[in-house]
Amino acid sequence: MFKIAIVSAAGGVGRSTLTASLAILLAQREIAVLALDFDPQNLLSTLFGSGEASLGGLLPDFLTKKEFGKSALVNSNGVACLPFGRANETSLVTFEQHLRAEPEWLSKCIAQIDYPSEAFLLIDTSRLPSLYARQAIVAADLVLAVLAPDARSLALLPAVEATLSRCAPGSQLIYVVNGLDSTRTLQNDLLARFRSTLQMRLSPYPVHRDEAIPRAVANRTNLQSLSPDSLVAHDLNGLLNWLLAGPASSLDGKV
Ligand SMILES: Nc1ncnc2c1ncn2[C@@H]1O[C@H](COP(=O)(O)OP(=O)(O)OP(=O)(O)O)[C@@H](O)[C@H]1O
Ligand SMILES: [Mg+2]
Repeated sequence: MFKIAIVSAAGGVGRSTLTASLAILLAQREIAVLALDFDPQNLLSTLFGSGEASLGGLLPDFLTKKEFGKSALVNSNGVACLPFGRANETSLVTFEQHLRAEPEWLSKCIAQIDYPSEAFLLIDTSRLPSLYARQAIVAADLVLAVLAPDARSLALLPAVEATLSRCAPGSQLIYVVNGLDSTRTLQNDLLARFRSTLQMRLSPYPVHRDEAIPRAVANRTNLQSLSPDSLVAHDLNGLLNWLLAGPASSLDGKV
């Protein structure tokens, strides 16, 4: 299974959006995919068109000692999604104590999932630094870091690089810019700056800002159905092609 963790140091830059969008595109290409929500916000399943956040998921399963992955459900997009599940303060304290004591907990759980070796696992997680992001990075073969075209993401870039080299020095770290408005000079300048700094590690397909993304969620559909010919649909396909042809093609696909 190819395991990709989607991370960022800044919040709200589109980690969950890109996780869901890439998962839907993989499913549309008939590639098996599991989207794993490793963020207590528990919002990933809503991005696949379910109106409400899921009650069940990996946290309730952990607390009741159920097998990891049993709460994954295949949604109308053909994506299997394992929600985080409903959390409260007490359950999170217990869970986070466990994550602190066992930094490879997620990695070990994923190794037990019975999934085809050519399948993809996309892990959405809390922003860095967090116990959740750290576990996701340790579990992943490839880390995809999301950048907004703003000064905050630029300033936080060294923190992302440092976290990866600390948590998983052997893992590959690649980047994508999300939410680009090409009419804004500052954003184009920042994109150029990211390109010169990151070079081949930055996806050549920045994902443009497009209201069709939140509209698809609000209308409980997906971007490909709502706006198949949009620039952002083209960007996302380009991003996935780049991942499959380059960074993800070199993964060894070990479970
Ligand atoms: N390319 C885009 N164009 C327009 N809106 C976008 C785009 N990407 C994300 N958004 C919107 O930005 C908001 C934040 O996105 P998202 O929830 O995916 O970010 P996140 O990094 O997962 O945030 P958090 O740190 O809260 O987990 C959402 O309302 C989403 O619909
Ligand atoms: Mg999110």
